[in-house]
Amino acid sequence: MGVTEGLKKDHELLRLKLSFIEAAMEVAPEAQFALREMCFSLARLLDGLIRREQQVLAPYGGRLGALRTSHLAEDHADQRVTLRDVNAVLLGGIHAPVSTIVPPLASLIKALREHMAEEEREVFPAVERFAGEDAPAEALAPSAPAITGAMTVNHVLKVHPRAREIFRAFDISCESDGLHGLEELYWRRGIDVSALLKALNEAPVVGHAMAGDAS
Ligand SMILES: [Fe+2]
Ligand SMILES: [Fe+2]
Repeated sequence: MGVTEGLKKDHELLRLKLSFIEAAMEVAPEAQFALREMCFSLARLLDGLIRREQQVLAPYGGRLGALRTSHLAEDHADQRVTLRDVNAVLLGGIHAPVSTIVPPLASLIKALREHMAEEEREVFPAVERFAGEDAPAEALAPSAPAITGAMTVNHVLKVHPRAREIFRAFDISCESDGLHGLEELYWRRGIDVSALLKALNEAPVVGHAMAGDAS
């Protein structure tokens, strides 16, 4: 499951809530009490959603670069202020006709929808990409040596071009020895195969490039 799956579900919930509020707005001020409940629970929903979003996105903040500044807490701050004012009117803390909340609430709904769409289009895919880049490195790092003595020189070269330098250091010809298995080179040429395997598997890219390769 992707790291942003939970956030997408949060968005679905928020979208549903926004459409209910929109429907109630059409009959405001008659629906004042229903609107009051909905806007109050919208504030709670939004708080939780922003908190989860910050938790999920925080590890990728640096790499999100320009996307970060326009998508993290800052733009939600304005939305929270608007919602607080709307709720103050609905609760009677600010004496104003209920109809006055319709324009700010409508623009809040629009802003939230645009914000979610933008996050799903730009931020979440970037985060999934970063998470994917991090995961294999972490998962494969402790894996067993990926290059074995049964592999031929050519096979190793095909998946890991840097092996060429290592073979050269062991006096192995990438041309004439290409078809030989690494272990074969021990009895053919007296090559220290365990030292060779160690060198190949310890070269940073070797293990990762080979992991998942069946042969
Ligand atoms: Fe957001
Ligand atoms: Fe979001």
